[in-house]
Amino acid sequence: MNEQGIIKIRHANAGDMGQLCAARNTENLFREYLHECDGEKACFLVAELAEKIVGFGLVYVDVTKNGKRKSHLPKLSDLFVIEKYRRKGVATALIQAREAIAKQYGHAHIFVSIDPDESTEMIALAKKLSYLPLQAQPYAAVATYHDSQGHSYEKQYFRLDFKKSLI
Ligand SMILES: CC(C)(COP(=O)(O)OP(=O)(O)OC[C@H]1O[C@@H](n2cnc3c(N)ncnc32)[C@H](O)[C@@H]1OP(=O)(O)O)[C@@H](O)C(=O)NCCC(=O)NCCS
Repeated sequence: MNEQGIIKIRHANAGDMGQLCAARNTENLFREYLHECDGEKACFLVAELAEKIVGFGLVYVDVTKNGKRKSHLPKLSDLFVIEKYRRKGVATALIQAREAIAKQYGHAHIFVSIDPDESTEMIALAKKLSYLPLQAQPYAAVATYHDSQGHSYEKQYFRLDFKKSLI
């Protein structure tokens, strides 16, 4: 509970598209997520405050139904909270819900990869929630990025992998 009420976490559905795009303008990506997330091997969660979607995040616990395999399994992916609603525990609630899904699936650990240049906030949050870095220095990787106009492009970036025990 915070000053705006209880943070509700639930699975995303097609009816959320308007609110998701209002949060971040990446409609094609959300369509991909809704298609690949079956609520079992991959889950796309939203966070609501007073019935408004204020954030979202994914977790991959297995190879998806389309055959996509993340670098680590289970893995947290694409966490986002609308700026106005940050520092209220929304991301923490989304992370804890996804950890619970991974644990329920039978995993003893969970992973997340973070670009330390792009998200010092996420590095701080991962450390606060007992995620431990697997490398001393960031390493290069290539990922698909999505700009605010909904365009996607490949870009090299540097990331650190973090791991947390779920036991
Ligand atoms: C990273 C992000 C998801 C955090 O969301 P949030 O809802 O504000 O996070 P919470 O309120 O649950 O957690 C707050 C904790 O996160 C860390 N944190 C969040 N914002 C921070 C900031 N601006 N500076 C330092 N630490 C920060 C701190 O550990 C903070 O704990 P504290 O308030 O006790 O200091 C949000 O800033 C965001 O959406 N950023 C853009 C997208 C992004 O970087 N995603 C991560 C991709 S890997």
